[in-house]
Amino acid sequence: MVEAPTIDAVTRKANLGRVDRIPLGQGLTFLVGDVEVAVFRQRDGQLFATQSRCPHRQGPLADGVVGAGAVVCPLHAKKFDLKTGHCSEKTLCVKTYAIHEDAGNIVMTLDSELKPSPLETMNATF
Ligand code: FES
Repeated sequence: MVEAPTIDAVTRKANLGRVDRIPLGQGLTFLVGDVEVAVFRQRDGQLFATQSRCPHRQGPLADGVVGAGAVVCPLHAKKFDLKTGHCSEKTLCVKTYAIHEDAGNIVMTLDSELKPSPLETMNATF
């Protein structure tokens, strides 16, 4: 499932909605601008965000097994560190994004790659 956020173009923060929309220990894919981002909520409540597709063969990382600061791709079980993006195979890594919880909402800081669309910006709630 791909969820669209609301984005504040001035602060470059994207509100991805209530944190409990992602069950503990699972991930969910969001469309931020024109980039798909996988957001993970560990069982301890920590949030992480990475590119949505596995660099090996495009597996959907949000459907992977999450825990101990890592996600295991559901297709071929390659493991990615959610803080650094590093993989057990040195030639593969995923892009990570800054994300945190603010008053029960998932808030992502946009980098230069992530540009809000006009529709997302109109819906900004910050
Ligand atoms: S597609 Fe992710 S490990 Fe192969």
